[in-house]
Formats: sequence, C-alpha cells, structure tokens
Amino acid sequence: MSSIRVRHTHPQDIPSLIALQKQIYPTIPPWSEARLLEQLEAFPQGQFVAESEEGLLGCSSSITVVWDDWMDSHSWKEITSAGTFEHHNPAGRTLYGVEVFVDPESQGQGVGHRLYEARRNLCRQMNLKRVIACGRLPGYHRHAKDMSAELYAQKVIWGDLTDPVLSFQIREGFSYCGVMDNYIPEDNESCGYASLIVWLNPDYQADKPLNTPKDIL
Ligand SMILES: CC(C)(COP(=O)(O)OP(=O)(O)OC[C@H]1O[C@@H](n2cnc3c(N)ncnc32)[C@H](O)[C@@H]1OP(=O)(O)O)[C@@H](O)C(=O)NCCC(=O)NCCS
Repeated sequence: MSSIRVRHTHPQDIPSLIALQKQIYPTIPPWSEARLLEQLEAFPQGQFVAESEEGLLGCSSSITVVWDDWMDSHSWKEITSAGTFEHHNPAGRTLYGVEVFVDPESQGQGVGHRLYEARRNLCRQMNLKRVIACGRLPGYHRHAKDMSAELYAQKVIWGDLTDPVLSFQIREGFSYCGVMDNYIPEDNESCGYASLIVWLNPDYQADKPLNTPKDIL
C-alpha cells in the first residue's frame, strides 16, 4: 500500500464513506448523506479519514461529551442522537469515539492505528481528559453459547482469547472498564454487546482551559 495519510473529513468524502460502511456492516443500516453532513457541521475537528493514493481506506468519528451525563448505560443510537450528533457538547472534556472502520482489504496494515493516533492527538491538542468508546465485540457470537459477554471480554483482556476489535484497542493503550448490553442491537456478531474502554490523556491539565477547536485546525 502507498503511504497512509490521515486528514479531516470533507463533504466530498461522504459517498465513499457510505459505500465503505455498507461493505463493513452489511446488517447495520448505513448513515445517510444528510446525517454525515450534520456530523461534519456539529464537530468537524472530530471527523477523520485515512487515505492512500488508491483512495479512502477508513474513518474515525468522535464527539465531545460530559461523561457524567452518559456514564450509566446508553446505546449507540442514544449517544449519537441517531447520527445527528445533537448531543455533541463543546464544553465536554471527554472525546467519545463514535465510529472507526477500515476497508477490509486494508486491515492489519496500521490504518486503524493511524486513525486512533489522530484521536489521541486531538485529545491532547484540545486538552481533553480522555477518550472513551464502546467497542464492538465481533468475536463474541462464536462463544456466546459457552460464556457471558463479560467473561468473553475478560478472557480477551487476560490473553486467552482474541477479539478483532477489543484486542486491537487494548494494544492501542485503552483500558477495559466493563461490558454494555443492547449497545447496537443490530450488531449480530457482537450479540448487541460492547466493551466500555478508556484512554487517559497523560498531558491533560485540569487547571488549563479547553482549547476551542478553531485553535487547532
Ligand atoms: C478494528 C479496526 C478498525 C482495526 O483497524 P486496522 O487497520 O486493521 O488496525 P491496525 O492495522 O492498525 O491494527 C490491526 C492489527 O494489525 C497489526 N498491524 C499493524 N500494522 C501492521 C503491519 N504494517 N503489518 C502487519 N500487521 C500490522 C497490529 O499489530 C494489529 O494487531 P492486533 O489487532 O493483534 O493488535 C478494523 O479491524 C475494522 O475496521 N473492523 C471492522 C469495523 C469495526 O468493528 N470497527 C470497530 C468499531 S468499535
């Protein structure tokens, strides 16, 4: 693969993003063009794509939230306001990872790592406290008959099982905090479950202001 570049998402990327999303999540309805435009308007600094000379390789999408408002159980639909990003709160000190995906043919080549790095850099640049996400557990359906989702996630953390998403996130420096149910009910591979994960920004300074996004673009 030619060199990977990560940049902010532009409206022109939307048709390719929808095509990629349909390919990656055949059982989950993709976001519409109008929704993706709303997301770009709500928080353009939080939307990234990865590309090479061959074209778009993947994307990462985030909002900021006041975590205390969401720390109890919530679904993906609730926190993303069904994709409108209405709950993006510019005063929030937590970067919440809404989505990340990579073209299946480009996985395992460091694209996901670059997209996660962009998120961590944004967190540092904005002086946010942390990145929180609820990650899919796509390997769980293979073990659902034998164990709970909690035990499955623990076994991944202990290194006894490998999950395509959670194992990657742990290697990316995230800590596992537990399992959420009914996070994406249509996600058959994860049986609707997700793992709650956090990365703490080591450079966070509580006494310093939040950098407004216009300062960092
Ligand atoms: C999860 C996901 C985003 C990871 O993206 P990716 O581009 O495959 O991630 P990377 O290539 O950076 O890392 C993946 C693995 O490849 C390895 N890798 C990274 N660079 C590599 C390279 N140059 N050569 C070989 N292997 C490499 C990494 O060590 C990593 O291994 P690990 O998973 O055992 O930690 C991707 O698999 C995906 O899109 N999945 C489907 C959508 C999804 O479920 N998204 C998550 C929503 S919560």
